Amino acid sequence: MTKAVTRRDTVGSVTQRKVSLTGIKPTGEPHLGNLIGAIRPALQLADTYEAMYFIADYHALTTVRSADEMRHYSRSVAATWIAAGLDTDRITMYRQSDVPETFELAWVLSCVTGKGLMNRAHAYKAIRDRNAAAGIEDLDAGVNMGLYNYPILMAADILLMDTDVVPVGKDQSQHVEYAADIAKSFNALFGETFTLKVPELVLPAADAGKTLPGTDGRKMSKSYDNTIPLFAPSAQLKKIVRRIATDSTPVEEPKDPDSSSVFLILEQFAAPDVVADVRERLKAGGMGWGELKNILFETLDTQMAPLRERYEELMRPDSDLDERLAEGGVKARARAREVLSGVRAAVGVD
Ligand code: ADP
Ligand code: TRP
Repeated sequence: MTKAVTRRDTVGSVTQRKVSLTGIKPTGEPHLGNLIGAIRPALQLADTYEAMYFIADYHALTTVRSADEMRHYSRSVAATWIAAGLDTDRITMYRQSDVPETFELAWVLSCVTGKGLMNRAHAYKAIRDRNAAAGIEDLDAGVNMGLYNYPILMAADILLMDTDVVPVGKDQSQHVEYAADIAKSFNALFGETFTLKVPELVLPAADAGKTLPGTDGRKMSKSYDNTIPLFAPSAQLKKIVRRIATDSTPVEEPKDPDSSSVFLILEQFAAPDVVADVRERLKAGGMGWGELKNILFETLDTQMAPLRERYEELMRPDSDLDERLAEGGVKARARAREVLSGVRAAVGVD
């Protein structure tokens, strides 16, 4: 016998606005690339959507093997996003691990997901390809089950919050498509009593072209060890800016601004008139890399100073950071329980 569960347009009483949800993995010190590619677009989205952000700590566990590191980076990610302008009174920010309903839903979803879908996941396939290229016989070497099931856990994060849109970078688009496919599989099997909302992918406009280069000219990324940390103290920031790779064009020679990492970073942070002026001076000749680096350092140092101060305040053990996250967790759980009770009823374990 089936129990009738009616589907509501919005789970929870909060709002009629559409819900956007995104997760951030706490795996390293936030850098300028994250600010440009993830944090700034997220700030804009918070004006349009009912925005939810969570620290994907259990996703990070597929690679992070130190409890201290996990604790530090989880707080550090939250503090960074708040310091950069996310207002926890307007948005919901929580830790994934504070919403245990996620893991219950993940099991249900894994029971409606074909193994073949996971075999085709980009991240998993990339490791197998790497093993093959290295001549390793067991192509699954180095793959833990968390990594293999990663897309299902991510689908659970998304579907549990009755999410409308998921703003992520291109590298995550397959995961959002999987979440939509998995929701459809669930709905096809159990949709008579309860349906999961099928989420949509939103690629932030910033993703279209703005990839910030790092100190070696490649994409700024933790994996390349070429990042400029967002909250480096002034002296360290100065040293890192000095290290940015440049060619050996002499001071007086004209330079192409658009092939200089220093300029491309400056462009994202300095006022438009400063950017225009520097661009002209580089093209005309007479501005050396040293001078350009000084301008970049001053710009970053001035812009980051108030954020750095706020970040450091939030990172203190006695700040209200943990309380804010706990409050976010309570809000998120209330929302999660409504979806999960629909799911439980639909599969018959209520
Ligand atoms: P990393 O490459 O350092 O490991 P992540 O993969 O953790 O960075 O990225 C987190 C978010 O920051 C993603 O949304 C990604 O699009 C954005 N991001 C990372 N590096 C850059 C960059 N160099 N330029 C623009 N956006 C970036
Ligand atoms: N996999 C995402 C990343 O590596 C993080 C993430 C986990 C996420 N769960 C999510 C993003 C749900 C959006 C929605 O960046």
